Amino acid sequence: MKQHLAALAATLACALGAQAADIKVVVDADRPGPVIHRNIYGQFAEHLGTGIYEGMWVGPESRIPNVRGWRKDVVAALKDLKVPLVRWPGGCFADEYHWRDGIGPRGKRPVKVNTHWGGVPENNAVGTHEFFDLVEQLGAEAYVNANMGTGSPQEAAEWLEYMTGEGNATLVELRRKNGRDKPFRVHYYALGNETWGCGGNMRPEYYADLYRHWSTFLKTPAHNRPQFVASGGNDTDTTWTDVLSKSIRHKVDGIAHHAYTFPSGQWEGKGAAAGFPEAEWISMLSQVGKIDDTLARSRAILDKNDPKKKLAIYFDEWGSWYDPEPGSNPGFLVQRNTLRDALLAALHFNVFHAHAERVKMSNVAQMVNVLQAMILTSKDQLVLTPTYHAFSLYTPFQDATSLPARVENNPAYRVGKFEMPALSVTAGRGKDGKLWLGLVNANATQAAELTLQVGAHAPRAARGRLLTAAAMDAQNELGKAPQVVPQAYEARAVDGRLTLKLPAKSIAVVAVEG
Ligand code: AHR
Repeated sequence: MKQHLAALAATLACALGAQAADIKVVVDADRPGPVIHRNIYGQFAEHLGTGIYEGMWVGPESRIPNVRGWRKDVVAALKDLKVPLVRWPGGCFADEYHWRDGIGPRGKRPVKVNTHWGGVPENNAVGTHEFFDLVEQLGAEAYVNANMGTGSPQEAAEWLEYMTGEGNATLVELRRKNGRDKPFRVHYYALGNETWGCGGNMRPEYYADLYRHWSTFLKTPAHNRPQFVASGGNDTDTTWTDVLSKSIRHKVDGIAHHAYTFPSGQWEGKGAAAGFPEAEWISMLSQVGKIDDTLARSRAILDKNDPKKKLAIYFDEWGSWYDPEPGSNPGFLVQRNTLRDALLAALHFNVFHAHAERVKMSNVAQMVNVLQAMILTSKDQLVLTPTYHAFSLYTPFQDATSLPARVENNPAYRVGKFEMPALSVTAGRGKDGKLWLGLVNANATQAAELTLQVGAHAPRAARGRLLTAAAMDAQNELGKAPQVVPQAYEARAVDGRLTLKLPAKSIAVVAVEG
């Protein structure tokens, strides 16, 4: 009887519109957590389709304005995004890349075939020096992925020596001859990529042994030692994290992990990037829950195998992956980018922040024209995608100190067989001293109203930016007015109560005052 009355009361409250007011975001500003490493906002640029060639690199002779071959407009947009880190040259491409092909006069570099991505010629115009020019123009850190699949320990060791060496060793003199006196600063160096698949179809035990062997020979001056990255597991599989963290003890700072999101949840028949039903909106967004769960399990494994917390998780490939855009080369991984992708990105950020104790880097796949890109280009034009704007909204979280935050009475969002919490929140004290909140309302049709409580009191106001649009698949297309652009957001307390209104399918990042 008691239960029946409670249910009746809840139904009445809902009918009177009281349910929305019950949703509360509570932030504990007095219990700071780990720092949200800025490299969680890292990017990935692979020799794939027009991700590098055309999309960013046009060459110094191009009539498209460029600085030493890199497009000015693209670099400026990426600088605005405060890109902290770029991973290069792959991906699957990395395990067929031989660094000596990409140094010396460009006209004399060998032409190879990019066997992984479309079978197109790879003229090696972008090599080590060009890549470092790009990251230096961006003010970003460099993450170089060495070839384990078809390379050798000698090749991996010598590439590192070429980049970081000092004195007058022959390799260092070669770098000087090629125009670079000062060593390059390599922040991260990985051995292999997806070694369970395109990187060599290995077992984790075999890879662990190879890693131990190869890493022995990775040597740099102490002040230019990169973080060393072991290639790890995929999707929800944590076996690699377990085996590698038990077997590799030296010259390893983090274990990589990859997880892509497909509407259908499977590789074959992934689903469309645009023009999808609400069931595919929620099927995408709800899968971020699996990533949260995988990270929780990975952390538990690492806490057992690495109690001193020396190993980080580097989530160095993530993002949406759809059926290729009709008419495009399927090997180029061209896809549209919509509001759904922006929310997918924001939900990833909230999860990565929640696991910031171990997750110290992530790389969205990929930066330009490929998969869940920030920027799409065509000839001399470019457009900023909804995902770009999600990254832009979240820039205050780079190097912020995380703060515990939760949603009380979080409504469930259900479509067919799919269900997820409608609201997701993250909080942090930014480098600017402000308390920042990142909020996502995943519900495609229902707005949400929530009150905000920080510690014991209700704050005075919240100001920031909101991203939403009329349609789930709203996008920004070349030559058309953009449909997804951030707008200013402000909420003020009334009678001591601060209420935030979040439209359906929206992201808000706000600084909280008072
Ligand atoms: O990002 C595209 C590809 O996805 C990468 O090359 C590979 O590592 C992953 O399978």
